[in-house]
Amino acid sequence: MEKPRAVLFDAYGTLFDVYSVGLLAEQLFPGHGPALSVLWRDKQIEYTRLVTTSNHGAHYQPFWALTRAALVYAIKRLAVKDPAAAQPADFDTKVDSLMNQYRHLSAYPENREVLQTLKARGIPTGILSNGDPAMLGIAVRSAGLEGLLDHVISVDPIRKYKTHPDAYALGPQAMGLKAGQIVFVSSNSWDALAATWFGYCTLWVNRQGLPFEELGTPPTRTGTSLRDVLDFFPAG
Ligand code: LAC
Repeated sequence: MEKPRAVLFDAYGTLFDVYSVGLLAEQLFPGHGPALSVLWRDKQIEYTRLVTTSNHGAHYQPFWALTRAALVYAIKRLAVKDPAAAQPADFDTKVDSLMNQYRHLSAYPENREVLQTLKARGIPTGILSNGDPAMLGIAVRSAGLEGLLDHVISVDPIRKYKTHPDAYALGPQAMGLKAGQIVFVSSNSWDALAATWFGYCTLWVNRQGLPFEELGTPPTRTGTSLRDVLDFFPAG
């Protein structure tokens, strides 16, 4: 393994808690909050793959638009079993309030301290995310992480989502390093796997004690919080 020299974080699910919308989802759709947030997230990721792998990217839409489309789908899907859950009259209002919540997702509490420590140790850091630049900018500001990240890299300019290799290639390009010199941190097992395949040194942050993907390649390391990235860069 090369000596790691920089860190790139995935954003949604890793720095920002995508399931923190569950509370509001439960208020708006009583009894369905947890299912709605899981379905929403899964559909959002499915849509990124659909538009990246189909028809040479002709159907690309920015992550914000795909996230909204995935939410609308997830509510309609819920309404199949529980028609009262999706009242046509306030459908758009509910979608708008959940999207607004998504814009200001809670950040995991250890984020700031970990980023500050990396900065103090002289390690360049960044985000490499499917998120479009506007939503990433707001999320970073809302979480108070401004000034703690050297790069905020969005796949939007190349119109290809992770796990396309061109998306992962943006990291080494921006940082002027080889992938193997960068620790790529993700809580999403599929992202940690594909980043490992791409050649990054990887940390899978497994907060929920989930199994890793069963495709034959483990991440470089597995941890339970963002703090575990610090072990790659001992103090002094
Ligand atoms: C991201 C999604 C995949 O931030 O979580 O790229």
